[in-house]
Amino acid sequence: MVKVLQYGVGSIGSKAVKALVSKPWIEIVGAVDSDEAKKGRDLGMVAGLDRRLDVEVYGSLAEALKHVKADIVLHTTSSWLDLVEPQILEIVENGLSVVSTCEELAYPWRRSPEAAKRIDEAARKNGVVVLGTGVNPGFVLDTMILTLTSVCISIDRIEAWRVVDASKRRLPLQKKIGSGMSVEEFRSAVQRGRMGHVGLRESLDMVADCLGWNFDYVRESLEPVVASKPIETEFFKIKPGQVIGISQSIGGFVGGFEKIKLNLQMYLNAENPRDAVKIEGVPSLEFEVKNGIPGDEATVAIIVNMIPRVLSAEPGLKTMKDLKLPFAWLKAF
Ligand SMILES: NC(=O)c1ccc[n+]([C@@H]2O[C@H](COP(=O)([O-])OP(=O)(O)OC[C@H]3O[C@@H](n4cnc5c(N)ncnc54)[C@H](OP(=O)(O)O)[C@@H]3O)[C@@H](O)[C@H]2O)c1
Repeated sequence: MVKVLQYGVGSIGSKAVKALVSKPWIEIVGAVDSDEAKKGRDLGMVAGLDRRLDVEVYGSLAEALKHVKADIVLHTTSSWLDLVEPQILEIVENGLSVVSTCEELAYPWRRSPEAAKRIDEAARKNGVVVLGTGVNPGFVLDTMILTLTSVCISIDRIEAWRVVDASKRRLPLQKKIGSGMSVEEFRSAVQRGRMGHVGLRESLDMVADCLGWNFDYVRESLEPVVASKPIETEFFKIKPGQVIGISQSIGGFVGGFEKIKLNLQMYLNAENPRDAVKIEGVPSLEFEVKNGIPGDEATVAIIVNMIPRVLSAEPGLKTMKDLKLPFAWLKAF
């Protein structure tokens, strides 16, 4: 039995709890959340299962570990490595491996090499494994692309698209793409630096490092998608002219040529949602997942499916490219 501690019982953490209870090889031993309203309550009720799990939500990791013993932590609190690093280090220093949905942890080696080194050293010293993953980053614009490249002998260029209809996604996601903002509010949020999807850079870096590509420069763009008619979701009532999401891209250039471009569009009522990859090489390939991979379900699935991979890996900070082939873990562990 693998003893799991759920760290962060928000939208994704709650869905993770539902997935964890469906796995006979997993025992949820406790949870951690900083929200006062969740502290001290039963995890089943906090996660919206409508039944008690007889598992407590503690206000901090230190408090949780006074009461329970765990093998691994599922960590779903934040996208930013500067906020998450102390949380990950505390987990690691308590001798626990961790799978996190923190986007900047999915491949920190190029953008935050010092933080990556600190986490890697702490993980090795404590004999545990740290993995950042999810649907994106973690799969669609990195692991999925890299898997396709395994049947190519040479590659000139890669372009990939993830188009997501955000109207069916969770509230934090609809918020983070700027739903309901004016274009001015959107642009000033971009200036402040915490707007848009986090993780395109991490996906690009992972693919580039695997393929041995070094860029002369990297170009990123982030634009609002604006409503042309009224739109209503479970959480927002949008008027024409208000922001309904993002159109974001990143490209890596060599000698003025764009070797790789990753495009992400996430907006309410997006047309033709899909995940697609085009590889120009030998052989050239085109691949498409119609309607796209459902983000929340896929994130929860991949963090649970990676638990056996993490528990059998060598200690250190790992990324999806370092671990054994991922697949749905339907068997016992
Ligand atoms: N890689 C991927 O593909 C992927 C996919 C989905 C989600 N994500 C990321 O995963 C993270 C979680 O997503 P979400 O939608 O579940 O967000 P969320 O609903 O905001 O949930 C985060 C939860 O963690 C709690 N929390 C925050 N800081 C904490 C701390 N220091 N200690 C303990 N608990 C803390 C929050 O409590 P408060 O409410 O009190 O802050 C909240 O309950 C986000 O950063 C999201 O972007 C990544």
